[in-house]
Amino acid sequence: MSETQSTYNYKVVRQFAIMTVVWGIVGMLVGVIIAAQLVWPELNFGPWLTYGRLRPLHTNAVIFAFGGCALFATSYWVAQRTCHTRLFSDGLAAFTFWGWQIVILLAAVSLPLGITTGKEYAELEWPIDILITLVWVAYALVFFGTLIKRKVSHIYVANWFYGGMILAVALLHLVNSAEIPVSMLKSYSAYAGVQDAMVQWWYGHNAVGFFLTAGFLGMMYYFVPKQAERPVYSYRLSVVHFWALIFTYMWAGPHHLHYTALPDWTQSIGMLFSLILLAPSWGGMINGIMTLSGAWHKLRDDPILKFLITSLSFYGMSTFEGPMMSVKSVNALSHYTDWTVGHVHAGALGWVAMVSVGSLYYLIPRLFGAKQMYSVKLVTVHFWIATIGVVLYIASMWIAGVMQGLMWRAFNPDGTLTYSFVEAVKGSYPFWTIRLVGGVLFLGGMLIMFYNVLKTIGQSQGADERIMAPAAHHA
Ligand code: HEM
Ligand code: HEM
Repeated sequence: MSETQSTYNYKVVRQFAIMTVVWGIVGMLVGVIIAAQLVWPELNFGPWLTYGRLRPLHTNAVIFAFGGCALFATSYWVAQRTCHTRLFSDGLAAFTFWGWQIVILLAAVSLPLGITTGKEYAELEWPIDILITLVWVAYALVFFGTLIKRKVSHIYVANWFYGGMILAVALLHLVNSAEIPVSMLKSYSAYAGVQDAMVQWWYGHNAVGFFLTAGFLGMMYYFVPKQAERPVYSYRLSVVHFWALIFTYMWAGPHHLHYTALPDWTQSIGMLFSLILLAPSWGGMINGIMTLSGAWHKLRDDPILKFLITSLSFYGMSTFEGPMMSVKSVNALSHYTDWTVGHVHAGALGWVAMVSVGSLYYLIPRLFGAKQMYSVKLVTVHFWIATIGVVLYIASMWIAGVMQGLMWRAFNPDGTLTYSFVEAVKGSYPFWTIRLVGGVLFLGGMLIMFYNVLKTIGQSQGADERIMAPAAHHA
């Protein structure tokens, strides 16, 4: 066996891990800027830096740049470590890294210029869509190729979640991005009217279900047992909730289109499947949290476990809230309000960002051959700042959202509206300010992390990349 075959490919994991932190900071900084623009509209420097152009930049940067790099980094690590083999192809893996960074840079240029398809979370124009497709096919080849050449017979459950995510995202991207180019920078959707809306929210909701959930559950299934040094609470439950989750998510999209031109029965099916979705979601959350049984004391002084377990709590919370919001009568109040934004960030900051941060704190020392993070104390500081930040963000948005919804639908006895729209806007300012403070705290935590990561790399002694024989290495 040659040298390269008997070692893991950590280089690409290192690259994606570092860029996760960098894009996290960039994406959240843009989040803080748009949060500030809502408090001080004078901050709209136009046309490139106006709210309407920076908002999609924020969502693309945090979901696809930050979240995407976290998924690439951890899936490449997990696949290699659990299959006891090097990545299927170093060249293709490198292509996924550089290709994905180019996609991100093209997004960072084209969105402020106003080049957009106008479909939420799928704003990038068709030439970039093609590049995304190429990178994703290479990702699938590297990931599944690695599983095929594995040295152990079993495929650990985390890989199921990553693999499900890769396949589903490929399907979503290809179907929702079907478009007719009219110039290099402009295309129109292949679908029209309500079909377009339905395809878009089938995509949008499954982007949440697969990109922001299934992939990160893969992360949870590897890093929680590793950090807790306990086996997964129930392996059977992990497999059952995998199939239940991927089956159910696919049908829930219409809850984004309540009270629209979409046929009523379609909306009701979306609501029904969203309610069912509570069960597999909580199956995953309970499985993750219960993995700590017998090791609860570790939570007291292990900040990495704090990140991982708190992320699961936010996952449980947002997947309880989501099914409730999908009930038509609740959605009649919550839709178009900041309640939705609060729900989004309970999932995005509380779950996605925190599980990624926890996993990275596990990975970074191992990737760079350090015993542990440069400062474990700073990890604890990061944890508390981030947690306070998320709570400020989502609590303020709940209050603002319910207030907005109630104000908009308040009627006088003579049938006129009690409040004008601008009164609801005025009433929202204090809450938007609190959200901004929460965002600044969360971003501050990321900057602390960046410092800690740089210092850890500074102490690096070179990682041990040798592949141990399966017998000598227990899962
Ligand atoms: C059982 C799981 C979940 C269900 C049933 C669910 C349901 C919902 C509902 C009903 C809405 C409001 C739609 C509207 O009024 O327009 C919504 C919005 C949203 N949810 Fe969830 N949710 C779930 C979990 C999550 C998680 C874990 C995340 C993030 C990681 C998330 C991210 C989002 C996003 C980004 C939106 C806003 C979409 C938009 O309008 O742009 N959801 N969800
Ligand atoms: C410092 C952290 C963050 C801040 C300050 C922030 C701020 C914001 C703001 C102000 C909006 C626009 C809300 C509106 O239009 O009323 C927004 C939207 C959004 N953000 Fe963030 N954000 C942060 C982190 C994140 C992260 C980490 C993610 C995902 C992993 C994320 C995903 C989203 C999504 C999906 C939306 C669109 C929501 C919708 O359409 O309903 N954000 N964010």
